Amino acid sequence: MAPLKALSTLVSLIALGTQAVQAGLAQREANTVLHGKCIESVIPVSITANNSILKIDPPANQQVLTDFVVRWTSETSNVTQEVVQGTFVNKATYNIYTLLCIPTKQDAQKTVELAIHGIGFDHTYWNLGGSGSKYNYVEAALKAGHAILIYDRLGIGKSQKPNGIKEVQLPTEVEIAAQLVKHLKAGPQGQSWKRFVGVGHSFGSATLVNVARVYGNILDATVLTGFTSHDSALKAISTFTWTIASQDDPKRLGSLPPEYLVWNSIINNQQNFFTFPNYDPAVLQASEDNKWSATLGELLTQGTPPAPQYTNPVFVVTGDKDYIFCGGNCFQKVNGTDLLVGTKELFPSVKKFSTYSPAKTGHGVNAHLSAPQTYVQIQNWIADI
Ligand SMILES: *[C@@H]1O[C@H](CO)[C@@H](O)[C@H](O)[C@H]1NC(C)=O
Ligand SMILES: *[C@@H]1O[C@H](CO)[C@@H](O)[C@H](O)[C@H]1NC(C)=O
Ligand SMILES: *[C@@H]1O[C@H](CO)[C@@H](O)[C@H](O)[C@H]1NC(C)=O
Repeated sequence: MAPLKALSTLVSLIALGTQAVQAGLAQREANTVLHGKCIESVIPVSITANNSILKIDPPANQQVLTDFVVRWTSETSNVTQEVVQGTFVNKATYNIYTLLCIPTKQDAQKTVELAIHGIGFDHTYWNLGGSGSKYNYVEAALKAGHAILIYDRLGIGKSQKPNGIKEVQLPTEVEIAAQLVKHLKAGPQGQSWKRFVGVGHSFGSATLVNVARVYGNILDATVLTGFTSHDSALKAISTFTWTIASQDDPKRLGSLPPEYLVWNSIINNQQNFFTFPNYDPAVLQASEDNKWSATLGELLTQGTPPAPQYTNPVFVVTGDKDYIFCGGNCFQKVNGTDLLVGTKELFPSVKKFSTYSPAKTGHGVNAHLSAPQTYVQIQNWIADI
């Protein structure tokens, strides 16, 4: 009996310890950060967006959803044309969770970054692992003297979660991002910046391409990570094993409507986001434990037409093995260039266009062992613009 009792005491001590660590981390995220300080706030963001009218019902059950994905991603499918039936104006105000981090020592150019996470993550993609972690992009930006605002996109984390067919669509996400740029330009928290840089990952990068298309030079520079203009999105969608989020993880995502979707296992996560063995398995596990949803509305309104009105610098930073945006090989040649360089096609008026491809790195750039070096490349590029 004694050893068993000791064991159960040990187990409950470990459980207690884990809770304490988690509670501590949640506080530290807002209060303790290297090279600066962070302020959490939920901001009401008012937008007017040209959303698509989507003729589709929330999936009644998993089989209905899987059937839709199969039909949508089938060869010669015309599901998109059938579902998208014109546009309507989505005029709304949404509560968006933001974390604004201000460096101890602001750079001379007074730079602020706005970072937009992609599908599958929340804002913690940008401060992965918390304070002191080598995967923490926010701390890399602060160390370079840049302020940075990260946020949960609409439908994610601590932000509002409205209808995922009608409201949570790319055009609405684009307007929210543009409004957050305007929010930074208005100088919140007594700050005043002179240089405004957008940094995206994946769907967040697609959002920034559209911000450039609609708003021209609202940003002084654009960094697109986990992104190319290579048209492999539909193939990627077909590999995602889309699952109704509330059924996949009832404890954490149980309150989400059925049109909010996640991939269904860590196997799928590894295949789409990671390149073995160039990551810490604990990071893969943590990203699975904290995975976030995408809506049917977002999946059906993706698209990055060119942004000819935008003329400011662009930096494309995509892992050499990105499975989603490069089909696993970013150095394959299309029209004589690799896929990162080929992304210039979206920015016909841009003069300063640069690329960097971290080696042995998959789609989830920030979650790989290469992250610290990637962050140095990005901050140096921003310093040089
Ligand atoms: C929405 O569509 C209208 C009409 O075509 C256009 O004038 C307006 O600029 C569009 N708004 C955005 C944000 O794209
Ligand atoms: C495309 O949709 C139309 C109806 O809108 C249908 O008649 C046609 O068979 C579809 N084509 C394919 C290849 O499924
Ligand atoms: C490659 O060339 C084709 C045909 O000229 C064009 O449609 C396509 O957009 C080009 N792709 C890239 C990545 O430049």
